[in-house]
Parts: sequence; structure tokens; C-alpha cells
Amino acid sequence: MNSPFIAASVLAADFGRLVDDLSAMDHAGVDLFHWDMMDGHFVPNISFGPAVMKALRTTSAKPFDVHLMVTNPIQWIDAVNDAGADNISFHIEAVADPMLVIGKIKDKKIGAGLALNPDTIIDTIAPEIFAQLNRVVVMTVNPGFGGQKFIDQSMKIKQLHERFPHLDIMVDGGVNIETAAIVLDAGATTLVTGSALFNAADKQKFIATIKGGVQ
Ligand code: DX5
Ligand code: ZN
Repeated sequence: MNSPFIAASVLAADFGRLVDDLSAMDHAGVDLFHWDMMDGHFVPNISFGPAVMKALRTTSAKPFDVHLMVTNPIQWIDAVNDAGADNISFHIEAVADPMLVIGKIKDKKIGAGLALNPDTIIDTIAPEIFAQLNRVVVMTVNPGFGGQKFIDQSMKIKQLHERFPHLDIMVDGGVNIETAAIVLDAGATTLVTGSALFNAADKQKFIATIKGGVQ
């Protein structure tokens, strides 16, 4: 098993101190930043949009990964790309034609990801769609809020790992030291951590522990 990449979920930061919090995560050793953008329609919450991310783009040289929890993702791709995204993921449950959205993201020469809610079954999604993706986001909570309880999706992660070995399998929701072990065992390659990371007393140690370096 390779050491996973760790994505800090900005949703768990102190919004009044975003520069400080992002810099602290950068120095603690996260690999990328995960930006949960919500529209209050696809999910019952609103977080921040591309303007906020753009203002923070210079705080770290690490990749910015955007998770769009919105009803009409194609509408936001220009602005999110302009704001400095390295990858944009959108929800399969939100769109009628995922290939159209993937095509628009890839036209920007950035990574395309597809997010799957816990109830979404991968057999309902055409394999040709996965072939076009860089990343799949396996939701281990119902999207909308940080700090929720982990929902085990090991079977889905194993199926994706076996069928589409080229994909980065990002797991998002309720990831902590214990649940990280479960999803890594199933084949996850990138872990999003929000509340567990931001609440950890020693963030560097938390990251090193998940990566398998320190026990
Ligand atoms: C949920 C978001 C997650 C969330 C993860 O809608 O997509 O990225 O911020 O936070 P934790 O790690 O607290 O579950
Ligand atoms: Zn997310």
C-alpha cells in the first residue's frame, strides 16, 4: 500500500483566519487543499465560492482541489478555473450529461473528478465515463456538512480500485485515524480530512500517522 495523499478540507478552517489556517496546514505537511463549494440547493448549506478561493490562492503552492456540491456544475467551471483550481470534481447525481461537464473541465487543462454520494451505485455509471476521469470522490458522508459520522463504502472503493486502476480514489467525509485505515485497506489513494485534522492537537503527527510514518 502506498502512502496516501492528504487533502485538508478548508470547510473545517476558521473562516476569520483562513490565511493563517491554510499556511499552518501547508507547513504541517498536507499534500493538497480541498474546497467544498455549495449552492444551498444541491446540498442544504452554503460555504464559499471561487472569489474566496482566488483570494487564498497565493497562500500555498500546493494543488487546490474543488468539490462542487451544486445543481448546475457546468455554470461554475470558468470561474473556478480562473480562481486557480487544479482539479474540479462534480456530483454525478446533479447532472444529466456527465461527459459534457468532464469535457468542459478538461478543456481547461486541469483534472476532472466525479463525486458519488453514499447511496450511488457505480454499476449505474457507464465505464466510459470513468475512463475520462482523473479522480473519483467517494463520499463517506452525505454531502453538505463537515464533522459527520463516517459511512463505510469499502465495497465501492474496492470495485473502483479493481476496475479503474488509473483513477485517483479520493475519500471524503468522516476520515480520522481509525477510518483512514479502513479506506486505505480498500484502495483509497487520497484522503480528505476536515474536522479530525483541524481539531488534532499535533497536525504534523496526525498527517504522519495517517501516511504511516509515525505510530
Ligand atoms: C462534506 C464535505 C467534506 C467535509 C469533510 O460535504 O464534502 O469535504 O468537509 O469534513 P470532515 O472530515 O469533517 O467529515
Ligand atoms: Zn468535499
